[in-house]
Amino acid sequence: MKILHITCSPRGQQSVSYRLSQRVMDRLLSQHPAAQIVTRDLWAEPLPHVDGEYAGALGGTRDGARAASGRAMSSLVLSERLIAELRDADCVIIATPMHNFTVPSALKAWLDHVVRIGVTFNATPEGKIGTLADRPVYIAVSSGGYRTGERARQPDFLEPYLRAILPTIGLKNLTFFSVESTVAGPEATTAAFAAVERELDDCVA
Ligand SMILES: Cc1cc2nc3c(=O)[nH]c(=O)nc-3n(C[C@H](O)[C@H](O)[C@H](O)COP(=O)(O)O)c2cc1C
Repeated sequence: MKILHITCSPRGQQSVSYRLSQRVMDRLLSQHPAAQIVTRDLWAEPLPHVDGEYAGALGGTRDGARAASGRAMSSLVLSERLIAELRDADCVIIATPMHNFTVPSALKAWLDHVVRIGVTFNATPEGKIGTLADRPVYIAVSSGGYRTGERARQPDFLEPYLRAILPTIGLKNLTFFSVESTVAGPEATTAAFAAVERELDDCVA
């Protein structure tokens, strides 16, 4: 059993999303004590934006090849590596805060490397069809305000986006956990963590 743990908060291991994702991890490890964990901290080791070679390859032109020269590693090489890491995982945990109504740019950069036409999905007359084998993906989301339910006073482009983009590459078995309204302070955040515990027990099997 291999677990790929993706985190992207600038607050590292103190972050709410990381701590929430650790609760998922604890449950998985209690069921699979010998699981191997692969960690990808997208804030500590940020990915570059995709380069011209990559954009050219995906867009069917070769114009970008020159623009890519001089970089330590081309986006295509990096993309191969990140896709292999994802393909290899039996289970994925993604920890993400909401930034400006959606995912942080660090996580978007990872998605741009792994959502790749002709590799992780194919464009067909019926639409985009993912090529990755499905597996459980647990997504731990934190937000300063409410983003779901009646108390939400902001649009949420984060969860709908991940619910659209991950199935595009074949990852359809998605479970979301949320700690919302962290701006209300540590007591409210602790209460939100307590509220999510039962959901975690029910869903992480
Ligand atoms: C750049 C930036 C943008 C943010 N945008 C939003 C937002 O649109 N909606 C929201 O509810 N919270 C927003 N927040 C607040 C974070 O989502 C909140 O502090 C969250 O608890 C951080 O989680 P973390 O500890 O996992 O980083 C933003 C924070 C930052 C740093």
